[in-house]
Amino acid sequence: MSNFPIDAVRARFPALALTDQGRSRVYLDNPAGTQVPQSVVDAVSRCLVETNANLGGAFVTSIAAEAIVDAAHEAMADFLGADDPGEITLGPAMTPLTLHLSRSICRDFGPGDELVVTRMDHEGDVAPWLEIAEDKGMTVKVLPFNRETWRIEPEDLKALLTDRTRLVALNHASNLTGSINNIKELVGIVKEVGALAYIDAVQSAPHIALDVKDIGCDFLACSPYKFFGPHLGCVWGKAEHLERMHAYKCRCTPATLPGKFETGTVQLELLAGLTAAVEHMAWLGSECDPTTAEGSRRDRIVAGFGAADAYETPLTRRLIDGLMALGGIEIFGITNSNQLDQRVPTISFRHRNIKPRVISEALAAKGIFVWDGHNYAFEVVRYLDIPEDEGVVRIGIAHYNTAAEVDATLDGVAQAIGGTMA
Ligand SMILES: Cc1ncc(COP(=O)(O)O)c(C=O)c1O
Repeated sequence: MSNFPIDAVRARFPALALTDQGRSRVYLDNPAGTQVPQSVVDAVSRCLVETNANLGGAFVTSIAAEAIVDAAHEAMADFLGADDPGEITLGPAMTPLTLHLSRSICRDFGPGDELVVTRMDHEGDVAPWLEIAEDKGMTVKVLPFNRETWRIEPEDLKALLTDRTRLVALNHASNLTGSINNIKELVGIVKEVGALAYIDAVQSAPHIALDVKDIGCDFLACSPYKFFGPHLGCVWGKAEHLERMHAYKCRCTPATLPGKFETGTVQLELLAGLTAAVEHMAWLGSECDPTTAEGSRRDRIVAGFGAADAYETPLTRRLIDGLMALGGIEIFGITNSNQLDQRVPTISFRHRNIKPRVISEALAAKGIFVWDGHNYAFEVVRYLDIPEDEGVVRIGIAHYNTAAEVDATLDGVAQAIGGTMA
């Protein structure tokens, strides 16, 4: 996207201007967590200075704190295309929220009931279900992804479902291969057998305008610190389920939505930052498509993601093509430049001789931050026969990265593996 306002975007993120011993930083560790705009920093610190109080008091700061909590739920409802802010549950991260909710979701299930997890998911959407299945004596089935298409194939899902399937935990986009599943189709198949669909959208949320109603799922989880916000987790759930489900909570806290599953004191200042992060995507939308400037926040968020995607895709192509031009590299994921709409800009690879850690250390020495390891995609590395203790090098692009950063990274990888750029 040639008219993407990259300079204005970068100017909003103060961390991008930082240097270490005069060397600038290249943040390509985005799938593990993104940087935040100054507006998020300001919102967090303003909350701590001006409205730092617990909820439910009669005084001005407590009343303002309530408004911050409400605003965060409203912002996430807009972000996810939900009608009802009550359907948003916020907490410390996706994994503890999923552990917490899994207990309520599976409360009435028992021996003979079946639950499906995938080989494509992060542990955050596998381990909670394995734990509760063990507690309840449920049967666990494991859904593979296709090693050629890198996605979950509908036929493989259908083959696992029975009239005893109670829940399917599915992955929207992989944090290792980057592939995006056709989630709407997969959810449709799950709903045909009357099971619940719990979607891990942690890695799609920074790149795609999610729409829970269109997807048709029952629950959808994401992590705001992956989309330019503070360290928080979020789960959207259909009100009909959340209202019906038993909440494991303190007796004196409300049994009404949205607080029903948010037991304990809220992370107030981070919720203030979360609203600012959602506003950042809306800002991007109105910058890139001024026709949305007067529209709803949801319209601007959708426009923001459209612009970010159009900007990120050529960078993804540049990175993949550049890596493939270097000898001895195997990319685990879609590389066909005509299928980039089926992946997020998260590229994982290994070199035939040089270990991932050696490559990430060589890049770190140049101020280029990438991840190495299994990235908690435990099932994925096992399924792909990747050594668990080594994993992959993972490079993840966000809408504030540049072509020059991609080129510097390719150069750094070339040097690390003892070659030169073509
Ligand atoms: C796909 C995916 N799911 C779940 C998680 C866990 O998220 P959290 O750190 O919010 O628990 C991550 C974190 O990297 C992830 O990438």
